[in-house]
Amino acid sequence: MNDLLGSDISCETSIEASGISKVYWDGSRRLDVLTDVSFSVRPGEAVAIVGPSGSGKTTLLNILSGLDEPSAGQVRIGGVGIHGLGEDAKAAFRNENIGFVFQFYHLLAEFTALENVMLPVLIRNHAAPDGAARRRAETLLSRVGLAERAVHFPGELSGGEQQRVAIARALVNGPKILFCDEPTGNLDPRMADEIVGIIRDFFYEDGRCAVIVTHDEKIAGMADRVLRMEELNRG
Ligand SMILES: Nc1ncnc2c1ncn2[C@@H]1O[C@H](COP(=O)(O)OP(=O)(O)O)[C@@H](O)[C@H]1O
Ligand SMILES: [Mg+2]
Repeated sequence: MNDLLGSDISCETSIEASGISKVYWDGSRRLDVLTDVSFSVRPGEAVAIVGPSGSGKTTLLNILSGLDEPSAGQVRIGGVGIHGLGEDAKAAFRNENIGFVFQFYHLLAEFTALENVMLPVLIRNHAAPDGAARRRAETLLSRVGLAERAVHFPGELSGGEQQRVAIARALVNGPKILFCDEPTGNLDPRMADEIVGIIRDFFYEDGRCAVIVTHDEKIAGMADRVLRMEELNRG
């Protein structure tokens, strides 16, 4: 497992999804959400995934990032087959390399905005975050316009504000890959522009890449490539 920690995952292909399928069973009723989905993302590339509600976008993102298991197929990130890793190794790999912005934020209610942002650092260091980690979290919170809300709890924040905290949290460990599930879905147009700027800045750093599920024309427009679920999914 330690071989994976701190390993340089940059290589020719950052993300390679091959033959991904996902089947759900509702009693005896079979639901084929994803069928034989294959594509790859190169280092430094931003890919937008678009598709109607219920077409499997969240399911695909969860599988790509190792949060969920495919029924068939495999995902390689920087050459590492993430679904072949044990749970601890996978968690460490995700913490080290992947930032994820959930559609519904998933902030921890009993922690302040700043603590939520610092949490991935805490997990990574197995210790209290140092001053540098705290400053990085504070800087990210101000980037998303929430410097004044650092000590507030998620329950005291609007949906859009929680979304911005979630974006800061996804970036705090400097991930090589960023997955975002409709990151501007709950933001007003001005704040959505801010967030697009922050996400775009992320791409400028060497070899980083992003996969963004979105309905937002601006985000899709800034991506290097737009993939459509209707075309990806061979079901
Ligand atoms: N855990 C689950 N069990 C059964 N069906 C599910 C589950 N998760 C998602 N689905 C179904 O899979 C389909 C795709 O869902 P989802 O990936 O959330 O789509 P999208 O993000 O494109 O709206 C939907 O029909 C949804 O109801
Ligand atoms: Mg979704």
